[in-house]
Amino acid sequence: MTREQAQKRIEALAAEIREHDHRYYVLDKPGISDAAYDKLFRELRDLEEAHPDLRPADSPTLRVGGGLREAFRKVRHTAPMRSLDSLMNADEVREFDGRIKKGLGLDEGLFATEVEYRAEPKFDGLSIELVYEDGVFVRGSTRGDGEHGEDVTENLRTIRAVPLRLREDGPAEGRRGVLAVRGEALMPVAEFEALNARLIAADEEPFANARNAAAGAVRQLDAAITASRKLDFYAYDVLHADHAAFATQGALLDALRAWGFHVDGGARACAGVDEVITYHAAIGEKRDALPYEIDGVVVKVEDRATHARLGLRSRSPRYAFAFKFPPREEVTQVLDIVVQVGRTGKLTPVAQLKPVDVSGVTVSRATLHNQDELDRKDVRIGDTVRVRRAGDVIPEVVEVLLEKRPEGAARFVLPERCPVCDAAVEKEGAAHFCTNGLACPAQLERHLTHFTMRSAMDIVGLGEKTVKQLLEAKLVKDLADLYHLTPIDLVGLEGFAEKSIDNLIAAIEGSKSPRLERFLFALGIEHVGETVARLLADHFGALDGLVNATVDDLQEIHGIGPEVAESVHHFFASARNRKVLERLRAAGVRPVAEARPSGPRPLDGEIMVFTGGLESMPRPDAQRLAERNGAKIARGISRKVTLVVAGPGAGSKRADAERLGIRIIDEAEFLRITRSAE
Ligand code: IVH
Repeated sequence: MTREQAQKRIEALAAEIREHDHRYYVLDKPGISDAAYDKLFRELRDLEEAHPDLRPADSPTLRVGGGLREAFRKVRHTAPMRSLDSLMNADEVREFDGRIKKGLGLDEGLFATEVEYRAEPKFDGLSIELVYEDGVFVRGSTRGDGEHGEDVTENLRTIRAVPLRLREDGPAEGRRGVLAVRGEALMPVAEFEALNARLIAADEEPFANARNAAAGAVRQLDAAITASRKLDFYAYDVLHADHAAFATQGALLDALRAWGFHVDGGARACAGVDEVITYHAAIGEKRDALPYEIDGVVVKVEDRATHARLGLRSRSPRYAFAFKFPPREEVTQVLDIVVQVGRTGKLTPVAQLKPVDVSGVTVSRATLHNQDELDRKDVRIGDTVRVRRAGDVIPEVVEVLLEKRPEGAARFVLPERCPVCDAAVEKEGAAHFCTNGLACPAQLERHLTHFTMRSAMDIVGLGEKTVKQLLEAKLVKDLADLYHLTPIDLVGLEGFAEKSIDNLIAAIEGSKSPRLERFLFALGIEHVGETVARLLADHFGALDGLVNATVDDLQEIHGIGPEVAESVHHFFASARNRKVLERLRAAGVRPVAEARPSGPRPLDGEIMVFTGGLESMPRPDAQRLAERNGAKIARGISRKVTLVVAGPGAGSKRADAERLGIRIIDEAEFLRITRSAE
């Protein structure tokens, strides 16, 4: 390839990759498979390596980050990055609106004209300035003191939603001279939770919230770490433009979107302050379901010419304000720490808190998870703590305010004996368990309620209340006792008339032939939800094989990891649990398995890998179909693998399989083989 050809190809590849990045990260509509994308990316990287001087300043390969910096340079913003007045309730919002009307000389009488606003989500991230010169991203900085920020250009480049070049769909004036865009870098909630889980697993300090995690990622000295943190960026303002101008905030957002920025679709025009208040309430309702954290609504006067008329104060403008949500975090006191025993026997320390209102919900308890977590946060009785509610998650203690710790407060240690039945407690992994199994009343009550529920054994009429009654009357000491109940036993229980006694006995009797997967789910084995139960039922077909399976056997099943395998094995290895299973069997409980192909199956002995796309079904379904037909599914290509199903977009796995001479078939062939057996 000549130098000229290389240059052309580099430009074409960079443009194509930028287009795919935009589709993937901003529009959420990927245009090609990951494998095809990787191929383009590798080709560009190789070409640039061969011709380093031809690498464009906005090349997508610069997004991956590299090299460690010692500190960030200070840079001056193109215009001051002001903050907003924070208003906490509708009255304050009406007052602000009143001041705007007054400033504009609008009549406040009967026929008052309303001010038109644009209301937007208030992202709870990190305020950032992005500077473009002639349409190319050249510099990005944190807000800092509002006048100067830290130059974090290389880190921001790794955020896929930050356009490296403004798209031509947007106004051309913005692509001439300097355009400075303001927006928020943030970490999506799912990413934040995954990151914290990884940090905790690695014994490192997790972040208190998604904003801190985003700030930590943006201010990383090693851009490769920023790149691994999967940040997002939402644009909402133009700080400075040499040429572009916008009549309204709505038009400004449209231009940002057309230049390729991520702009939230939730922004709305509001005709007057009442609509602003309604919008705030509506977004507040949706807050927990959003993929990122917001802490309120930002309200701006829609007409930009009016902004200039209203003017600025030193720190904040008069044409906009933040209408905040009540905080999700509050400070309160730990009155006590109690230990709960769950269905699986797991001991959970729970902080009993002085009740406190956290964004509209009274919080009086917070989970402390386990001893390790307790030690890490070092929560003690009497401590003052910061608690948080996020989404539907159980409230948790974020941190202890150490300066407020009372003298003499002692570390909390989980008891050595079960607080419910006094049996010995054992540590397994991070958790402590009561060793008394189903003989511990706390475990039995929760076990029974789980066992009888609709998606498990489906025993109608045996809800939580009846389970409690049966336990109190000492009629049931393990799951199998349910099947020995007689009408006489139930006479005298509160709320049980003859008819309901008959119904309950009939429902219990009628539950004796559950489908195997429901039965496995009903047993309440730790980590065995409905999906895992189905995998186990599909794989073993009957209880016998499963009961004697080793951890290795279990891990062979696609979709079952080491933790689940360990837990299932542990459950069936317990003598106490085996006894309950035997008694259930003696009482006539016979789980039935889904019919599976009898005799030899077409994929017996094959170890299979699926790669690339499938047209007729999702990959997990295809894997289950293969397993039902006798195959085992492997995670990756190795010499053990005997058969590969390769679909469109199959990349390196296919190549590896070819190299090892493994048989490769397509989807149609796979369907032919499996259908022939059904
Ligand atoms: S406009 C001059 N719009 O909230 C007004 N700010 O103090 C410029 N924020 O630190 C800000 N979402 O980082 C605006 N949709 C939004 C916003 C937003 C979040 C942040 C901004 C600033 C703080 C307000």
